[in-house]
Amino acid sequence: MIKKTGSIIHINTKATSLVLNVSKTGHLVCEYYGPLIPFGEDYGYLVTKTAFPHGTEIVYDEKIPSISLEGLSMEFATSGKGDFREPSLILQSETSQVFDFMYESDEIMDDYPVLDALPLPHHVDEVLKITLVDQVQKLKAELFYGVFIDADTISRHVVLHNDSDHDLIIDKIMSLQLDMPNRDFDLINLYGAWAAENNINRRKVTNGIHINDSKTGNSSNRHNPFFMLVSEQAGLNNGVTYAFNLLYSGNHYEMIELTSYDRVRIQLGINPFLFHYRLQINGKFETPIAIMSTSTLGQNGVSQNMHHFVNHHIVKGPWANKDRPILLNNWEATYLKFNEAKLTSLISAAKDAGIELFVLDDGWFSNRNDDTKGLGDYDVNEKKLPRGLSYLADKANAKGMKFGLWFEPEMVNVNSQLYEDHPDWAIKTEGREPSLGRHQLVLDLSKFEVQAYLIEQIGSVLDSAHIEYVKWDMNRHITDFSSSSYHSGELYHRYIIGLYRVLKVLTGKYDYVLWEGCASGGNRFDLGMLCFFQQMWTSDNTDAYSRYFIQAGISLGYPLSVIGAHVSATPSHQMLRNTPLETRFHVAAFGNLGYELDLRKLDDVDFKAIREQVAYYKAHRALLQYGRFYQLTYPDCPQAIAWMVKNEASTEAIIGRFNKLQSLLVGSDVLPGFGFDETLTYHVSAHRYDHRLKMFGGLINHVAPIQVNENGPLVSFIDKHKTMEQIMKSTNEETYIVPGSALNHGGVRLRAQWAGTGYNKDVRVLGDFGSELFYIEQVKTSG
Ligand code: DGJ
Repeated sequence: MIKKTGSIIHINTKATSLVLNVSKTGHLVCEYYGPLIPFGEDYGYLVTKTAFPHGTEIVYDEKIPSISLEGLSMEFATSGKGDFREPSLILQSETSQVFDFMYESDEIMDDYPVLDALPLPHHVDEVLKITLVDQVQKLKAELFYGVFIDADTISRHVVLHNDSDHDLIIDKIMSLQLDMPNRDFDLINLYGAWAAENNINRRKVTNGIHINDSKTGNSSNRHNPFFMLVSEQAGLNNGVTYAFNLLYSGNHYEMIELTSYDRVRIQLGINPFLFHYRLQINGKFETPIAIMSTSTLGQNGVSQNMHHFVNHHIVKGPWANKDRPILLNNWEATYLKFNEAKLTSLISAAKDAGIELFVLDDGWFSNRNDDTKGLGDYDVNEKKLPRGLSYLADKANAKGMKFGLWFEPEMVNVNSQLYEDHPDWAIKTEGREPSLGRHQLVLDLSKFEVQAYLIEQIGSVLDSAHIEYVKWDMNRHITDFSSSSYHSGELYHRYIIGLYRVLKVLTGKYDYVLWEGCASGGNRFDLGMLCFFQQMWTSDNTDAYSRYFIQAGISLGYPLSVIGAHVSATPSHQMLRNTPLETRFHVAAFGNLGYELDLRKLDDVDFKAIREQVAYYKAHRALLQYGRFYQLTYPDCPQAIAWMVKNEASTEAIIGRFNKLQSLLVGSDVLPGFGFDETLTYHVSAHRYDHRLKMFGGLINHVAPIQVNENGPLVSFIDKHKTMEQIMKSTNEETYIVPGSALNHGGVRLRAQWAGTGYNKDVRVLGDFGSELFYIEQVKTSG
C-alpha cells in the first residue's frame, strides 16, 4: 500500500515499510526502510535532522545552509554537487560531468510499464513511479518501485531518458540505491567456483566499500547477486535482516559503503566494469529490476520472504507452484557414451524405481562423442540413436514417464557445421585468436540472426518429439568481447538482452515444457533466469557432504522448488568421497529430487532403498518443494546441521539432521525445531531405513554364528541382498508423541548414537555423514 502525506511517500507491505521524502533541496531521499511502521500524519520523528554541514562538507544551496547532499539518504545519487559517496549514475557528457536530479512528480500505477527487453516480476500489487529531472543536462530519471505486499518485498529500477541534444555514454547506472543508518551490519554473500558454489561469507561491514560482483559475462559461480545484511543482534530466527537481489543474468554489481558517519549506502545494478553504453538523443535506458526485503525474524525470516517472492512473483507459466517431477538424468551414469539400448534400459530401471521423468543429457546430436565437437549442430546422432528422439520419448511415455532433453544453445565448437557456415557468429576480436573454454566459443546473442537461428533450431527439435523438459546449459564465460556494430562495452549487456529475447519466445511458445537452467552447475543461478526457467541445476557437485554447504548457501536467497538436487553414485565423481545412500537422498530431498547414476548397476538392497526414497518424496513432495524452509543450525556448526520444512499452518514438518564426522564425544542428541504451535501435540517419526551389513566391517563376527571374512564373497553376497535389520530381524523405528513447546525448545531427546558400543535397536547408527529425516505431524484429536 502506498500513501502520500505532504512530501512523504510511505509504502507498506505486510510487515515492512519504506518511507521516501523530498528534501528541502528538492532531492528524493529515503527516510526509513525496515520493519513495519504505521501510516501517519506527522513524520517529524523520522525525518533526517540537519542543523549544519560537518566541517568540510559542501553546502548544496546557501539559502538552505544546513544541508549537504552527503548528509542525505539519497535515492539516486550523482556526482558534482557535494555527495562524495558512490554515485548511482556515471555519464560521459561532452558538456559537463555535473549531474543533479530533482524530484518532479510521482504517480501510482497498477502495474509496471512493460520493459523493452528485461524481465519483470509478475503480480505486483502497486507500482510507484517517481520522476526526477536534471534541468541543465536535460535528463529524466524515472524511478519505479514495485510493491509485493505478501512477499514483503519492494522492487526498484530506473529508466533514464536522454532529452538533451547530444548522445551520452553511460558508464554506470544502478537499479537500486538505498541509504540508511548502520545497524552494526554483517554482510552475508555467496562466493565460489565450479562445483563449489554458494559458500557463505559473513563479515562485518566496516568503513569503506565492499563489492560483490561478476565480471564473467554471466551472473557466475564466483559471486551470486543475492546478499544479506544482518544486524549484529540477528540470529537464525530473530532480529532485523535485509536481503537484496537483482533480476539479471549478466555482469552484476552490489556495493555496500559504510561512511565515517555510520551510514550505509547499498547499490545493485549492472556491473560498471567494461560497461560503456551509448544513450542516443531521445533514447532511453532501462536498468534491470532490483529487489529488497527486510524482516524482524532473522536470516530465516528474510530468506522466506525471498522464497515467497520467487515462487509467487518470479517463476511463471503452467509449472509455477506445481509439483516438480522426480527425474533420472543419464549424465553421471553414461556421460557421452551411450546408445539406444543403454538409454531404454535406464528408462525401464527408472520406471521400476518410480521415477517420473527421464532426461537425456549431452551427447545426443551431431558427432558429439567428446566435448571438442558438435556443439551448435542439433541433428540427432543416428549412430547412437538410430530411431531418433521420438523413439526414446515414446518409450518413456509408454511407461507413464516424461522425456526431457539437454541443449547448450549459446555455444559453438569450432569443430562444427555451424561454425563452418557462420564463423562470424562467434564472439571474437579482430586480430586475436579467440580463447576457448571447454573447447568452445560463445555465440553472439546480440545478433538478431543468431537469435533467430536458435529459436528455429531449438523449436524444431522440440517439435520433433514429445519433449516435456529442457535442460538449458551454458558452459563457459565470455571473453574476446567485441562487435563491429557498437562499442564493445555494450556487448555483455546486449548479449543478455538477446538471450532474454530468445528465452521469451521459446518458453512462451513451449510453455508446457519444464525448463531447467544450468551453467556448469550453478554458474548462472539468478532471478533473471528464473523469470524463464522454473528450476536450476545447482551444482555439478553431487557429493552429499558438499551439498550441505552448497544448498545451505543458495537457499538463503532461493526457494527449494527451484533448487535441483540429485542422488548420485558413491564414491562421488567430483570428490571421490563415500557418503551413505540415505544421506544422498536426505540432502537431495531438500530440493527438486533427481537421480544421476546408473540404476542398473545397483544391487537389490540399494535399488529397494531408492524405490522407498522415491515413494517417501512423492508422499511429502508439496512440503519438501514448497514448505517454509528453515535452517535450524548454521552450516559451520561443528557436529551436525539441521534443516526444516514446515507447512503454513504448522501442522506438518520434516526436519533433516545431517552428521558431519562421527564423534564419540556427543552427549544425547536433541531434535531441533522452531515455530511449532504450542497448543498442539505432534507425532514425530524418524524416516526408517536399513543399514548395509558391510558398514559394520569385522564387527559382524560379534553377531554371526560362525566366523566369517568380512571382505570375503559370503559377506559380499549377503550384503547385496540383506540389510543388517533384516538379518537381525529388528527395526530402527523411532517415534514420539511431543508437545509443540517441546519441539520448539529442544525437548525431544533422541536415542543414543553409535559410540563403539554395539548394534541394537536403541542405537542410532549414523557414522560419518550419516543423516536422518523426521516427519512431524499434528496429532489429530478425535471428534
Ligand atoms: C555441465 C552440466 O552442469 C552437467 O550437468 C552436464 O549437463 C554437462 N554440462 C554436459 O556437458
